[in-house]
Amino acid sequence: MRYLIAGNWKMNGSLASAKALTEGLAAKAGTASKVDIALCPPSPLIPLVNAAIAGSALALGAQDCHANEKGAHTGDVSALLLKDIGCRYVIVGHSERRADHGETDAVVKAKAAAALKAGLMPIVCVGETEAQRERGETAAVIARQVTGSLPEGATSANTVVAYEPVWAIGTGKTATTDDIAEVHAQIRGLFKAGPDALRILYGGSVKGSNAQSILATAGVNGALVGGASLDLEDFWRIIAACP
Ligand code: 13P
Repeated sequence: MRYLIAGNWKMNGSLASAKALTEGLAAKAGTASKVDIALCPPSPLIPLVNAAIAGSALALGAQDCHANEKGAHTGDVSALLLKDIGCRYVIVGHSERRADHGETDAVVKAKAAAALKAGLMPIVCVGETEAQRERGETAAVIARQVTGSLPEGATSANTVVAYEPVWAIGTGKTATTDDIAEVHAQIRGLFKAGPDALRILYGGSVKGSNAQSILATAGVNGALVGGASLDLEDFWRIIAACP
């Protein structure tokens, strides 16, 4: 199965920095890559990034979409429009959206369904908080989020799941490879439609220095990278670390 390394730029970047970073990555990636690589910039930067990746092995993703196709939803963006402007992927249910915008599993599921309908590949994020892990609730939280967030029609061919322990995001802490393997195996077991081929990414402080051991962990099929995806050389080290 092909690895997927996705860079989630979050609310970072300018016209100038996005152009420099994307052009640098496109030059490194060339026209063919042994792994799938996706850049998920803030929405206003999507056209610029799309132009800069033209003809390269890089693909485009967005960080969120609305569940509806169109309408009175000020500030939101539809999956259909994201598809129209060149996106292949869209992240849904990131813990920052669950926390900042009160997104429930039902909301995430509706967004993922909209993505599938529009022909985008949703990257559905799940992950426990530190308090939940300390209380021994990790497996229950993951089960609830996976079963509650994946829409009808999700298959291993059209959907990606990302395990991002909330306490590992932007903190420099990463889950142990044993913990990652355990949760990925659980997610795979919960995914009824073609679990063998399901791509499950790990996210949470992945960087060039730890990518090799994380990407070699059983059941890990790529990474969803935040901070390190803003650094050309470090992001490339992660891509190069794919087995
Ligand atoms: P960091 O890589 O900055 O920890 O962020 C991970 C993440 O949230 C990716 O979606």
